[in-house]
Amino acid sequence: MQKIKKDQFSNRSILSIDQFTPDSFNRVFNEASALINEHERGVIHHELNGKIVTLLFYEPSSRTFSSFSSAAKRMGAQTVEYQNPTTTSSYVKGETMEDTIRVFANYSDCIVMRHFTTGIVKKLSRMIDIPMINAGDGSGEHPTQALLDMFTLHRRFGRLHNLKGLIAGDLLYGRTVHSLIKGLGKYQGNTLYLLAPERLKLPPYVEKEIKKMKIKIEYIKDEKSIPKDCNFWYWTRVQKERFSDPEEYEKLKKSFVITPSLLKQKGNANMVIMHPLPRIGEIDIKIDKDPRALYLSTQVKNGMYVRMALLKLVLG
Ligand code: NCD
Repeated sequence: MQKIKKDQFSNRSILSIDQFTPDSFNRVFNEASALINEHERGVIHHELNGKIVTLLFYEPSSRTFSSFSSAAKRMGAQTVEYQNPTTTSSYVKGETMEDTIRVFANYSDCIVMRHFTTGIVKKLSRMIDIPMINAGDGSGEHPTQALLDMFTLHRRFGRLHNLKGLIAGDLLYGRTVHSLIKGLGKYQGNTLYLLAPERLKLPPYVEKEIKKMKIKIEYIKDEKSIPKDCNFWYWTRVQKERFSDPEEYEKLKKSFVITPSLLKQKGNANMVIMHPLPRIGEIDIKIDKDPRALYLSTQVKNGMYVRMALLKLVLG
């Protein structure tokens, strides 16, 4: 996939983390950090006045949808918002995705889309001449979540190289981890420990891609094998909606849980705990008060700033 150079964001679709380089990540992160400072000083943004960002979300979403919506508005843009188009748009009447996207392109300066079909955002983006942003395509990728996760790590540790992380949960269907692992794979010296049930290991096509990268990957079998010196734990939900057998999902959904005792045994004082959310029991709520837990606060806030930065770079 063609890379985006740091000064080439204008009018580019954001479809995969593969498009980024350390330089283009830095461009987004610098912009997001500046926006945080400006927000703290009460600066109101008008850069995207007159622009319309359309949000088309074919799968349920709380954070990504509202994060993009608030990011667009905070930059001065307005939004056209569709949640559940499968029941509320002409999709119900049998309209094709190709027609829908071509129609919405007439109203919009940018379309942010989430869909249950892997690869569809990339395919549709070729049919229109405005940029599209992939807000999650099936079990494929979630590039803006990876951007906010990496921004969060960068702000906390001041670097994205020489990090040691634990990623746990659903590595097969979890699109956030596909993007995050590939993103961290672009930096030197990172090691990731992967903790997943056998059935939910990374898909072979992702494994193949990361074999070519700089990252060291090691599967561990159980919590006992978690090294104590991780910089971060990144936990994920088992993706119920991707299972055809509900019983199988029930068996796997609580395979690995962060509890206070696990954190005490295997954590350390400087680490952070992250999760893209929603969680459905894989992090004990007693962990929420721990200052190392970033998933309900810093991570979510950073998401909005990263999306403000991205919209500014793409549409500004
Ligand atoms: C994730 C997603 O939709 O992929 N959520 C999010 O965007 N923050 C993770 C998930 O649903 O488990």
